[in-house]
Amino acid sequence: MKQVRKAIIPAAGLGTRFLPATKALAKEMLPIVDKPTIQFIVEEARQSGIEDIVVVDGKNKRSIEDHFDSNPELEDNLRSKHKDEMLKLVEETTDINIYFIRQSHPRGLGDAVLTARAFIGDEPFVVMLGDDLNNINGNGNPLTKELITSYQETGASTLAVMRVPHEDTAKYGVINPSAEVKPGLYNVTNFVEKPDPKDAPSDLAIIGRYVFTPEIFDVLENTKPGKGNEIQLTDAINTLNKTQRVFAHEYKGDRYDTGNKFGWLETNIEYGLNHPQTKDELREYIKTLGVKLAAEDKAKKK
Ligand code: UTP
Repeated sequence: MKQVRKAIIPAAGLGTRFLPATKALAKEMLPIVDKPTIQFIVEEARQSGIEDIVVVDGKNKRSIEDHFDSNPELEDNLRSKHKDEMLKLVEETTDINIYFIRQSHPRGLGDAVLTARAFIGDEPFVVMLGDDLNNINGNGNPLTKELITSYQETGASTLAVMRVPHEDTAKYGVINPSAEVKPGLYNVTNFVEKPDPKDAPSDLAIIGRYVFTPEIFDVLENTKPGKGNEIQLTDAINTLNKTQRVFAHEYKGDRYDTGNKFGWLETNIEYGLNHPQTKDELREYIKTLGVKLAAEDKAKKK
């Protein structure tokens, strides 16, 4: 069986939920405390044994390319001032095989994945969405590593799911599981995009990590634009599921959605509470704030 060595990071979306911040800046460069979200993804890929990464980018994404490139002026400056720790942080970002492809028009996630076909070739690969972070404080397993381990056992395309509160199903793609073939691994009848809670076939929501066999490309070639007039990856997965087994792997670790304002703030707080330079001050601040907000709520109720 071929090993999973390559990853696609689709990053050509417009990031409209963060306007005006994303008017000129790539959404993937928004930091969590001091690290751009895309760097967390790249680190997860490396921890999972991925050797080559391709970022599918669009307009306003130059900052991503620059972030993973060397910056001799900055490096010389840090070196001359003996700022060794900072120099190490800067140099680490270039120690990686990363490539960039342009998606000429934002025609949807499925189209972004298809754009990377020539880079992937005839191999299994992973897709990692930049909004979705997991295991940011390193307490568990990177999700991508779990998916690759699962692929090594089944040889089948597998996507990551997570249990969400039933009332939240309308925010996600949700799986209709037919059987739990082993703990946390499901056979799937079909995938339903953002179902109303009363129609949701399960509480298992698709989160942004996938491992695919290369046959997904042929399916994507023939997938017509769907919801929002975009080529939907979920539509292609439903089609693939008719000719090949597609599994869902349940992730039980920490997961953060940084693609919306509240999720991004929450991730900053969780990461900040573990970051050596911010954790003590932030903890004290949150405690003080909690007391203040509780007093405000109490006063409102009177
Ligand atoms: P989103 O649905 O989160 O869209 O895309 P978005 O444009 O990034 O953000 P909002 O909703 O406008 O705020 C899911 C993933 O698919 C990528 C995005 O970059 C994101 O990682 N994507 C989406 C593409 O690469 N190309 C597309 O045409 C659409």
